[in-house]
Amino acid sequence: MPDTAGILRLESLQVHFPIQGGLFDRVLGRPAGAVRAVDRIDLNVGRGEIVALVGESGSGKTTVGRLITKLAQPTGGKLLFEGRDMTFVQDLSALRPYRHRVQMIFQDAYQALNPRHTVFDIVAEPLRSLRLVDNRTQLTDRVSEALASAGLNPPDDFFSRFPHELSGGQRQRVVIAGALAVKPELIVADEPVSMLDVSIRA
Ligand SMILES: Nc1ncnc2c1ncn2[C@@H]1O[C@H](COP(=O)(O)OP(=O)(O)O)[C@@H](O)[C@H]1O
Ligand SMILES: [Mg+2]
Repeated sequence: MPDTAGILRLESLQVHFPIQGGLFDRVLGRPAGAVRAVDRIDLNVGRGEIVALVGESGSGKTTVGRLITKLAQPTGGKLLFEGRDMTFVQDLSALRPYRHRVQMIFQDAYQALNPRHTVFDIVAEPLRSLRLVDNRTQLTDRVSEALASAGLNPPDDFFSRFPHELSGGQRQRVVIAGALAVKPELIVADEPVSMLDVSIRA
């Protein structure tokens, strides 16, 4: 059962990106205005609950994901995680435990994967930077487990491959494995299956 107290709560959260006006506007002192990427969203997510945001392209879905995962700063409103106000938390010592608990699966596998890193290093990266493993054996176990849960089997076949040696769907699975490896409590998935075959999506 979902926890009614909620794990994540957004209150009137908003992001307005300033628009750089043209020279003409600037000379005349006209205000340039702003893109209201996210305009006062309220959301309550319970533990164990799955919430889907649906909207057309450009409606602000990715921006909401980036706000929740603290990759973007809101220009107003509040972001609460387990009741704790995370809206303006920015220092690494506080963000590290947060990133352990909240992970994002990015929409664009081409952009999310470093082309010069092997699959092993890509999936291992968050485990290393969040200091979630003590030694090489633990690291290998966690990477294997994550690749297998993302449907890349047998996992060791993928360890030394580079992103360009994978199909689009396999690349997307590597991105998913990277998020799963951390064992987060909340996953923000930004159209995570848009690159997979239709047969798998269904
Ligand atoms: N860094 C940015 N600077 C200015 N405008 C942005 C930026 N990121 C997104 N936007 C704008 O914010 C709106 C929402 O974008 P986005 O969250 O990517 O939508 P979606 O994921 O629903 O397609 C769009 O109009 C987009 O052009
Ligand atoms: Mg998007």
